[in-house]
Amino acid sequence: MRSALLLLLFSSLVVDAAWTPSRRSDIDPTTRNPVKRNSKSQTCIVAKSQGNNTDDAPNFVKAAQQCKSDGVIVFQEGVDYNIFTPINATLSNVEVQIKGNLHLPQDIPTIQALVNKTTGGNLPWISLSGTNIALTGVQNVTTGWIYGYGENWWNANAKNGTGLAGRPHLIKVHALYGNNIYVRNTFIDATTVPGGGFPFNTATNVLIEDSVIMNGDDAITVENGAENVTVRNALIGGPGCHGTSVGSLGQDQTVFNRVKNILFTDITAVNCVYGARFKSWVGGQGLAQNVTWQNYHVENVTFPIYVTQTYVNQGSAQTQNSGEGSNTTATVNGRLNNASVVMENFTYENWTGTINTYQRGDWSCVTNPCWYDVPGADGTQSIVIQCSNSTSCSDYQLKNIQVTPMSSKPASVLCTYLDAKANPSSGLCVPTGRTCPRSEGAGTK
Ligand SMILES: *[C@@H]1O[C@H](CO)[C@@H](O)[C@H](O)[C@H]1NC(C)=O
Ligand SMILES: *[C@@H]1O[C@H](CO)[C@@H](O)[C@H](O)[C@H]1NC(C)=O
Ligand SMILES: *[C@@H]1O[C@H](CO)[C@@H](O)[C@H](O)[C@H]1NC(C)=O
Ligand SMILES: *[C@@H]1O[C@H](CO)[C@@H](O)[C@H](O)[C@H]1NC(C)=O
Ligand SMILES: *[C@@H]1O[C@H](CO)[C@@H](O)[C@H](O)[C@H]1NC(C)=O
Ligand SMILES: *[C@@H]1O[C@H](CO)[C@@H](O)[C@H](O)[C@H]1NC(C)=O
Ligand SMILES: *[C@@H]1O[C@H](CO)[C@@H](O)[C@H](O)[C@H]1NC(C)=O
Ligand SMILES: *[C@@H]1O[C@H](CO)[C@@H](O)[C@H](O)[C@H]1NC(C)=O
Ligand SMILES: *[C@@H]1O[C@H](CO)[C@@H](O)[C@H](O)[C@H]1NC(C)=O
Ligand SMILES: *[C@@H]1O[C@H](CO)[C@@H](O)[C@H](O)[C@H]1NC(C)=O
Ligand SMILES: *[C@@H]1O[C@H](CO)[C@@H](O)[C@H](O)[C@H]1NC(C)=O
Ligand SMILES: *[C@@H]1O[C@H](CO)[C@@H](O)[C@H](O)[C@H]1NC(C)=O
Repeated sequence: MRSALLLLLFSSLVVDAAWTPSRRSDIDPTTRNPVKRNSKSQTCIVAKSQGNNTDDAPNFVKAAQQCKSDGVIVFQEGVDYNIFTPINATLSNVEVQIKGNLHLPQDIPTIQALVNKTTGGNLPWISLSGTNIALTGVQNVTTGWIYGYGENWWNANAKNGTGLAGRPHLIKVHALYGNNIYVRNTFIDATTVPGGGFPFNTATNVLIEDSVIMNGDDAITVENGAENVTVRNALIGGPGCHGTSVGSLGQDQTVFNRVKNILFTDITAVNCVYGARFKSWVGGQGLAQNVTWQNYHVENVTFPIYVTQTYVNQGSAQTQNSGEGSNTTATVNGRLNNASVVMENFTYENWTGTINTYQRGDWSCVTNPCWYDVPGADGTQSIVIQCSNSTSCSDYQLKNIQVTPMSSKPASVLCTYLDAKANPSSGLCVPTGRTCPRSEGAGTK
């Protein structure tokens, strides 16, 4: 039932905008499909192995070796491929076309064993790196899906348990590292699996458009090093979906993190914990500049607009001060609060929809208070902005945020340190249908 609903919603998105990219090319003309066909270009079809339970990942590797520069790699329409082992390819001027369906493994122990072998348990299942890469699907939503089988993981997790080991980084479908990346018409169903849909790390000049992502973590996350990233026309959802995120930044307290010129536009988010989320770590350092989340429609989202500077990995015993997983000898509380990632020019514009009032969060709490608990939040907050001090947030602008609680109570805003002088156009205290109970624009709690 859930996917039927989401497909219906997707259809209306299609009618609205998704299949008319040519008319929308005004948004970001510099990052269209960067792959140029030339006389050297060749096409490599990914073979389908005999039998329903055979891994087709080696066939991809073979195709990617042959077509690693100036090529087109095709997962054929009408074919169901098994991607039972992680894919990792470095490509140059290559388009990867996902026309058939890709099925990730359902056998949990095998996956855990692979994740266990990696440092920090960080294993992107599909990882493409290089320059001028396009990852394109098909417009027809009945094919071109990546299936993550997240429900198996959810079901195997003991009630109120801390989650299966080897889980959080498992279905990081598509870690794309590189320059000039274009992603279009990609459909991902990793429903309820923690693991980002598209983590972008050190990715520059990226355009993702017309995608459907259903999962149990960030649908899209823009990480340290990203510059000039545009995401437009996406439907994201699924219980436990954590929205469109920037961060987490500043995990390693010794490294200055940076992201710049990030635009999320024309996004529909359904049943997510967050719509737009920024997250940075206590004592992390860095600079996030010119980030925009515009033209959003949220349905039943717990925290539509959310900024935190005290991010941690829940239930983790790691100090997490020198890269994920690399220091397990101390606790999060050991982090020095002696620095802050700075945010400049964050814009939120034209939001509509509803706040989840009745079944908040995603039942993934293993700590008390829950990791997504916000002191003072009561289910009416359309906006939660928690800056670490009065200089860490500047030139915030919030315009036309029409998001209301499902309970029909008036919407409200929680802000910490959104300094009025540093944010003269935040718009937060001239609300229409909004109240500003904590900050009154002057910012400090
Ligand atoms: C593969 O699965 C299909 C559908 O379940 C079945 O009809 C077919 O016989 C299977 N083929 C093999 C080789 O197991
Ligand atoms: C991809 O494979 C290469 C060679 O095995 C390895 O060095 C690299 O770390 C891998 N990259 C990712 C993102 O897994
Ligand atoms: C992976 O490591 C976890 C502990 O980190 C352990 O509980 C689990 O049994 C391991 N799984 C496999 C398949 O090696
Ligand atoms: C979409 O794909 C399905 C399955 O391959 C096919 O039956 C259907 O005709 C296609 N629809 C369009 C509009 O191409
Ligand atoms: C899980 O936690 C909830 C809320 O604390 C509690 O009501 C429920 O009984 C717990 N379930 C189990 C199986 O422990
Ligand atoms: C980002 O875009 C700007 C404006 O088009 C351009 O000047 C800059 O070089 C781009 N950054 C990178 C890393 O390519
Ligand atoms: C709202 O989202 C929550 C969490 O995903 C879900 O449990 C609940 O059924 C949703 N409510 C509605 C009315 O869709
Ligand atoms: C801010 O980012 C957007 C989207 O990437 C870009 O179009 C714009 O040029 C940037 N603004 C400045 C002043 O760099
Ligand atoms: C891990 O953290 C502890 C406590 O902060 C520190 O004493 C130790 O040097 C760290 N180890 C590494 C390898 O960073
Ligand atoms: C904000 O925090 C940063 C890093 O800790 C510090 O350098 C700065 O002085 C602080 N600003 C204020 C006004 O407290
Ligand atoms: C940030 O906002 C200020 C004030 O509106 C403006 O002067 C500046 O050009 C903006 N910078 C960027 C990079 O958008
Ligand atoms: C926001 O909505 C207003 C009113 O419909 C419109 O004028 C404006 O162009 C929109 N902004 C964006 C960034 O689409």
